[in-house]
Amino acid sequence: MIEILNEGSLFHLTAGGTSSVLMVKDGQLFSLYWGKAIAASDLDGYCPGYQQSSFDENTVFDRLEFDPWDGRHFTVPSLKKAGGENRFLHAEFAGYKLETACKAESAGPYSAYAKEVAAAGNGGAGAVAEVDRLTIFMNIAPDGITAALEYELFPDGMLAKRTRLSAESAIELESVTAASAVLPEKEQVKAHYTSGKWNGEWVVNEHAMPSGTLVLQSRRGTTSHHANPSLALAEPEAGENFGKVWWCQLGYSGSWSIQAERTGIGTTRVSLGENPFDFSVTVSPDNEYVSPWVYLGFTEGGFGTMSRKSHRFLERYILPKRQLRRVLYNSWEATTFAVKASEQKRLAEKAARMGCELFVVDDGWFGERNSEHAGLGDWFVNETKFPDGLDDLIDYVKSLGMEFGIWLEPEAVNPDSDLYRAHPDWAFHTADREPLRLRDQVELNFGLPEVQEYILNVIRDLLEKHDIRYIKWDMNRPIADVDGALVEGDPRTLWRKHTDGVYMIWDTLRKEFPHVELETCSGGGGRIDPGILRYADEFWTSDNTDPYDRLMIQYGCTQFYPASGMMCWVTDTPETSGRAKRALRYKFHSSFAGGLGIGANINHFSDAEIAYCGSQIELYKDIRHIVLEGDLYRIGVPGKDNVTAVQYVHPSTGESVVLMFLHSGTFADPQARIRLMGLDPDRKYDVRYFGAAQPENTDIGDTFVANADAAGDAYWDNAVRSFSGSTLMGFGIGAPLKGDFDSRCVVIRPKN
Ligand code: DGJ
Repeated sequence: MIEILNEGSLFHLTAGGTSSVLMVKDGQLFSLYWGKAIAASDLDGYCPGYQQSSFDENTVFDRLEFDPWDGRHFTVPSLKKAGGENRFLHAEFAGYKLETACKAESAGPYSAYAKEVAAAGNGGAGAVAEVDRLTIFMNIAPDGITAALEYELFPDGMLAKRTRLSAESAIELESVTAASAVLPEKEQVKAHYTSGKWNGEWVVNEHAMPSGTLVLQSRRGTTSHHANPSLALAEPEAGENFGKVWWCQLGYSGSWSIQAERTGIGTTRVSLGENPFDFSVTVSPDNEYVSPWVYLGFTEGGFGTMSRKSHRFLERYILPKRQLRRVLYNSWEATTFAVKASEQKRLAEKAARMGCELFVVDDGWFGERNSEHAGLGDWFVNETKFPDGLDDLIDYVKSLGMEFGIWLEPEAVNPDSDLYRAHPDWAFHTADREPLRLRDQVELNFGLPEVQEYILNVIRDLLEKHDIRYIKWDMNRPIADVDGALVEGDPRTLWRKHTDGVYMIWDTLRKEFPHVELETCSGGGGRIDPGILRYADEFWTSDNTDPYDRLMIQYGCTQFYPASGMMCWVTDTPETSGRAKRALRYKFHSSFAGGLGIGANINHFSDAEIAYCGSQIELYKDIRHIVLEGDLYRIGVPGKDNVTAVQYVHPSTGESVVLMFLHSGTFADPQARIRLMGLDPDRKYDVRYFGAAQPENTDIGDTFVANADAAGDAYWDNAVRSFSGSTLMGFGIGAPLKGDFDSRCVVIRPKN
């Protein structure tokens, strides 16, 4: 509900137990409050500011919701004009528009929500009625810019915000934020976010908010491995299961920035948007600026509740609605660039025997792509590798009962490729130096209409000619050499144009080929954000597939992103990196945590190993609806706690899955106990452990044979036992784990 109070000068956006209160005073728009629901009318007439000292401006300005740079305020401005003269801007409230029960523009066009809205028809009920929209108009003097600040309020209390700018004459701006949010007065907070690198994405950082500015950003033209546009601010005592958390995400896959400021008087304000570095936009009667969407949430239930709310929001309103993830086989780690149809067929036969549902040929199937040094950009089937054509393999895969998928990296090109030789000017480059090569490739400028058209047609052709049901869209380097030398217009506008070009192509592909599933990959998890997730069914979490490292990576990734899109593979890692073997069951349990894939070289697997994989895939298929549709509870912190678990609870069936892991048995520690969450205390459940039994005479890497003799182990491992929810949550279940890298999958089903 959006309440308009005090004759249109107080706005109360309240839903799902949260409130955001905005106030107009002397023509300026202030953020009065954001947090647990309050009676906003009580705040009529309240003024949040005071004069701290004669040296400082009034503290009220720290709470400005919209604050174009006027040369007198010192927090991050909402926008800043370029140029030397008349550069100070002043925003004045110019009215508002309230729309109730309207279609959310901030929702993904292929989301479950969007589909329900479409089904309801114009003016329909149901999903449409979920969202209320408020637009606040600000006139910006002296240049005749109008800002429309858009707010969309969802029933669960999530709030989407963005800014649209239009102008009567051409005005160049050197920064524009999408939105700001201000925390309640005097709230002390710590910051909680992820950062990392290739192969080590999603490391959770948590520290006190510094005085000054915390900047999370990418200047790389893409979301990046190094930081993610998601930030939580929480009261210092907050933990996984308790405490106030405010969080925000930016839906944008180009260069972005989140600036969280702790001002001198202790106000915390966060500004999100395109990165102001090397940014320019000219707003004019012909060119409106539309910022990316910002998504904001609040809970008193700690980071666990934050994650569950974020997952539900992204699943319902952003991610395309699809079937549950199919179990896929991907041949990248098995064959890398040495793709050969005959070998792919052998892999496919084994993948089908295990129960895989989708067979994916990764890099190396096209052009002269025999290494990372050539062929990228030449999206034509390599006839030496596929002497009987690609359809021969596709038909074979289909005859085995699987669907076929393929890898593409459309934004990149090797200089040693026919495409680059024909169109060197299509890549980002400068006039007087060689383009920067990373992985021996350069990036195409997707802002160019001719590049967009060419790439779209190449992919269209591929999808029209072949029965391809899945594309893994990769992007393996940051964008560099964004120079205007050989391109028309201001080079600073190219960053956004590239991102818009990518979105346009993904959108077109979804419209024209709705049966094709799209995965966003960027050298692992380098492009995962609510912008690309409007189009992507799933995301490649990380190139690091070590099953232990993955526990940490998945712990970080699920802080904001749902397990239903998070792809997790069983591979030959860590053995291939020279480290000790891990049990296959441990690899499976680690990969059961999201969408399951197999990426190992299964041509080397024995029949017993194939059969074991088959049994695990069968188990996964039986529980995947719980993992992929369930609420996620994290128990313990991988990398810190020796025993950790993730638990999923299906919202409608009440079924639950627990994946539990031991890092290393030390000091003969007794069994850990895992106290479950999210169950019905009054319900009875059957509890069954999977993973103790060892396949005989196999080399599947079970480094420790579970010793079922110990009384505790036998109690948990060897029986289906029944407990009430209250016992499972209070007393807990045992973790009969021993040795190093041990694990169990526990399935908990309500009794009828
Ligand atoms: C990086 C991806 O993350 C990998 O999974 C694989 O597709 C390679 N690129 C292929 O070049």
